[in-house]
Amino acid sequence: MTPPLKALELFCGIGGFAAAAGTNIRIAGALDQSAVALAVYRWNFPEHPARQADLEKITADELAGYGADLWWLSPPCQPYTVRGRKRDLDDPRARSLGHLLAVFPEIPPDRLPIHLALENVPGFALSQARDRLTSLLLKRGYQIRERHLCPTELGIPSRRPRYYLSASRLPLRPSFSFEERPLRPLLDFLDLSLNDDPPPELLLAPEVLTRFGDGFRILDPDEDTAYTTCFTGGYGKSLMHAGSYLRCRDGVRHFAPHEIARLLGFPVSFRFPEKLSLRKRWKLLGNSLSVCAVREVLNGFSVHACPTAPSLFP
Ligand SMILES: C[S@@+](CC[C@H](N)C(=O)[O-])C[C@H]1O[C@@H](n2cnc3c(N)ncnc32)[C@H](O)[C@@H]1O
Repeated sequence: MTPPLKALELFCGIGGFAAAAGTNIRIAGALDQSAVALAVYRWNFPEHPARQADLEKITADELAGYGADLWWLSPPCQPYTVRGRKRDLDDPRARSLGHLLAVFPEIPPDRLPIHLALENVPGFALSQARDRLTSLLLKRGYQIRERHLCPTELGIPSRRPRYYLSASRLPLRPSFSFEERPLRPLLDFLDLSLNDDPPPELLLAPEVLTRFGDGFRILDPDEDTAYTTCFTGGYGKSLMHAGSYLRCRDGVRHFAPHEIARLLGFPVSFRFPEKLSLRKRWKLLGNSLSVCAVREVLNGFSVHACPTAPSLFP
């Protein structure tokens, strides 16, 4: 049997990558600077060594010290969004990725990860950060594959188009391309008890609906082709462009955090610490990632050098 691949999760947040990893991957380290995100991570993945760290300061030696075969990176995406004014590497929120790019050349060849993957917003594809990262990886002998992927292509009724880079020092498997799957019904992901008896904090006030309702995406739970727009970290704070709403018995409601977690592909056992506010739960989920899309990306990596070797998710 092939031993599990050792992974280092950089910018781990609440653990979207950990949720995707399954038994073929062992997390050697999970790093993030946010204490709140780490509390959720540890609550759900107590067996993984999650640590608070500022990735603007990490050294090449510390990174190599994890002895990981795979690095997964989900750096902050604001520097590459229109809202974040697309300041790219000049944005202070890109400093951590800029620092990682600066120390990567210091890692000796025999301590480099075999595989590396990165997830970000579609705008990353046209950034200087992407150009710098890909040229570094090519120089160090990695094969590269880039693509955009949205969970709707995998049959999940929720939009979250993202850029994915896979880099490997082994041949990348062809399975990174796949056939688009039919959308599953939104109903499969909903907590219908919330439709019959919605808690007041999920409901939209009637005056908000009268004033802004025309600009909202309001879904009928049993509509066959319903899909949500992307839930952002601003859901519950910004009314517009932060995610969709649902029609329910008493009006129109927000999606509950556990419904969004299901749409992202987190297991049903995924929980938040009880004291964490609704707003914080929405924010952390909005910053997280599609677990199903991560699995698809991981599927492109071979577990060892033979081209017919099994993938991580056979
Ligand atoms: C796009 S989110 C990644 C979320 C993660 N993939 C998940 O599943 O929740 C970016 C993460 O980077 C973290 N971050 C931002 N700057 C950082 C830094 N300098 N050092 C460490 N983590 C940082 C944030 O706390 C946030 O959790």
